[in-house]
Amino acid sequence: MIAVIYGSSTLNTEYSAQRIQSAFGDGIADLHNVKHLEIELVRERNYLVFISSTWGTGDLQDDWELFFPRLDEVDFHGKTVGLVGLGDQENYPDTFCDSISLLYDKVIERGGTVIGATPTEGYSFSRSKAIRGNRFVGLVLDEDSQADRSDERIREWVAAYRGAVE
Ligand SMILES: Cc1cc2nc3c(=O)[nH]c(=O)nc-3n(C[C@H](O)[C@H](O)[C@H](O)COP(=O)(O)O)c2cc1C
Repeated sequence: MIAVIYGSSTLNTEYSAQRIQSAFGDGIADLHNVKHLEIELVRERNYLVFISSTWGTGDLQDDWELFFPRLDEVDFHGKTVGLVGLGDQENYPDTFCDSISLLYDKVIERGGTVIGATPTEGYSFSRSKAIRGNRFVGLVLDEDSQADRSDERIREWVAAYRGAVE
């Protein structure tokens, strides 16, 4: 079972997380709000998806920010993690989806494997810490200015995740 773990302040991320869970298909993924998460769940699962919006200037969503230090209690060797960021490229073009770079660095630092990098084509922004090489470290969704693109992006990304782990 893939654990889809999200933090959401104004429900955009919660709604996206639900769509991601259902795109995986029946019985493949379960959904967890990081606000109520026990660290044990992260320890137990080998397949994870971390989803956070970006707040402040490039910060993790509040509940994720509180939980983030707990990730230091987990050995990520043998774990495969997909990252999903929500942001607003029109109003925050210099910190677009920055927060998932924090999750990326932590998972890598602790020995995990991150899958699901995506191309930056189709977005319009100036800077993002979520880019490594020339790709986003995960799926990037913008429910503020490109909501109409999200379904297709989710479908393609979930298919790639499933293809990489099956
Ligand atoms: C005060 C404020 C700060 C924000 N800062 C950023 C930011 O730095 N980078 C970004 O890409 N989006 C930023 N956003 C946009 C949110 O990440 C975006 O609206 C997201 O969909 C919110 O998801 P949530 O409601 O699930 O938390 C900000 C939004 C607000 C209201």
